[in-house]
Amino acid sequence: MTRSTHIVALVVAAGKGERVGGDLPKQYWKIGGKAVIAHAVDALAAHPAIAAVHVVIGAGQEELYSKAIGTRLLPAPVIGGASRRDSVLRGLAAIEGASHVLIHDAARPNLPGAVIDRLVEALEHHPGAIPGLPVADTLARGTDILGDVVPRDQLYRVQTPQAFQFDAIVAAHRAWPDDREATDDAQVARAAGHRVAIVPGDALLAKITFGEDIAVAEQRMAARMIARTGLGFD
Ligand code: CTP
Ligand code: MG
Repeated sequence: MTRSTHIVALVVAAGKGERVGGDLPKQYWKIGGKAVIAHAVDALAAHPAIAAVHVVIGAGQEELYSKAIGTRLLPAPVIGGASRRDSVLRGLAAIEGASHVLIHDAARPNLPGAVIDRLVEALEHHPGAIPGLPVADTLARGTDILGDVVPRDQLYRVQTPQAFQFDAIVAAHRAWPDDREATDDAQVARAAGHRVAIVPGDALLAKITFGEDIAVAEQRMAARMIARTGLGFD
């Protein structure tokens, strides 16, 4: 990366966590005494290539956010929209002077620095890069009755952070039709004609989507902590 490189992170945390259910959105649940969103923010902020971490939060979640973030010094949060893409667009609009951006789901608290390394390296040669995990299970179509098996070679589970040249992803999002859903940013970049590299993802990066995923994220976090320090959570 050249001297003019200025990589920032954008964490989207404006969702309601409807599939997990309950009153407290999943990004504010605590793992090891620290909110899920704070784990995601800290992993990005700790990486030497990332100059700043911007966060998009839900309207009415200001207090939850400031409690979760505590004394961390971050730019003022941006209020998100009704869809993830809406939230991303609002977040991108608040960022100035970035050459590249890593867009990350707050609901992925386990973010290994090695994945960020791979993304940043891939940005040297591509306008976009995403972490992907090859699908390991047999895939099949079906209703309640088994249909055709889908060949799984060349199929990936796509994760975040997703890394892009800043101007390219902004223009791509503006060109995407407003009435069409986008579950991630890479499909938006690709639709605008950009080549997006796939780098190895990590099982740790799994998103908290359903209630049972919180316990899995907690176990993985504790295992990482023990591997690093020899100590688990209190
Ligand atoms: N997100 C967002 N703004 C939205 C919707 C989602 O910033 N309007 C964020 C979520 O906070 C999450 C990430 O996008 O960090 C991935 O979305 P998802 O896992 O779908 O989270 P939720 O939308 O909160 O969950 P659900 O779909 O179950 O309601
Ligand atoms: Mg959602």
